[in-house]
Amino acid sequence: MQGRRILLVIGGGIAAYKSLDLIRRLRERGATVRCILTAGAQQFVTPLAAAALSGQRAHTDLFDRADEAEIGHIKLARDADAIVVAPATANLMSRMAAGAADDLASTVLLATTLPILIAPAMNVRMWQHPATQRNVATLRADGVHVVGPNEGAMAEAEFGPGRMAEPAEIADAVAALFPSSGRAEQGALSGLRVLVTSGPTHEPIDPVRYIANRSSGRQGHAIAAAAAAAGAQVTLVSGPVSIPDPDGVHTVHV
Ligand SMILES: Cc1cc2nc3c(=O)[nH]c(=O)nc-3n(C[C@H](O)[C@H](O)[C@H](O)COP(=O)(O)O)c2cc1C
Repeated sequence: MQGRRILLVIGGGIAAYKSLDLIRRLRERGATVRCILTAGAQQFVTPLAAAALSGQRAHTDLFDRADEAEIGHIKLARDADAIVVAPATANLMSRMAAGAADDLASTVLLATTLPILIAPAMNVRMWQHPATQRNVATLRADGVHVVGPNEGAMAEAEFGPGRMAEPAEIADAVAALFPSSGRAEQGALSGLRVLVTSGPTHEPIDPVRYIANRSSGRQGHAIAAAAAAAGAQVTLVSGPVSIPDPDGVHTVHV
């Protein structure tokens, strides 16, 4: 998923808190995540939490002048590689199935041709209701991918299908949307985190002079780049060098 841009729509269900963990897991796999929160979602988690975890501004309003000037709902619907709806509430699924466009989330979902993955989450009776089952069938027929819901204990002390898939499971389903994402996704180091140190160290003798070595950093940088290309999530700690940071690697300069 390295470099993939995921637009995450967070719906107004109790499982919204798990979507914050999903942001982290997607980013761990190298994706960038931008969030849209429905009005309902904001009753459960804050745009601030989504922004802090995604490292990007979270979007909430269709009629936000600053947003429209800056990025706009059509650009949001276009500037991603996939859209994930988690949790997908019964309400949001019904609006998607009907082609509604009455808030930012539904408008973006209607204005896109990107792959869409939904992670339904709701009370077991809401999930089993014929209307919800009709909506899921419609969405599947429209090409929407579905992960979960799982069976298990629910927030209202009930048991049955309706529990949102776990964040790791959703992240796997997102990765599966990109089957040809190349060697990094399928690489031998996929799923591993690698720390590489590179470049010279400078140890001061006094404020002017230091003891150093002649390392150029080329070998360490090449190892970091190779590990990233093999699918690892790489952090490179680099001493003072005159070569550029490798692509796809988180580089810390010391
Ligand atoms: C405490 C509480 C928990 C809720 N949990 C869910 C849920 O898990 N799934 C769901 O579909 N709706 C749930 N709802 C109802 C939704 O919040 C409601 O349908 C809302 O309109 C959904 O808005 P959205 O689909 O635009 O996010 C819950 C409501 C409350 C008050």
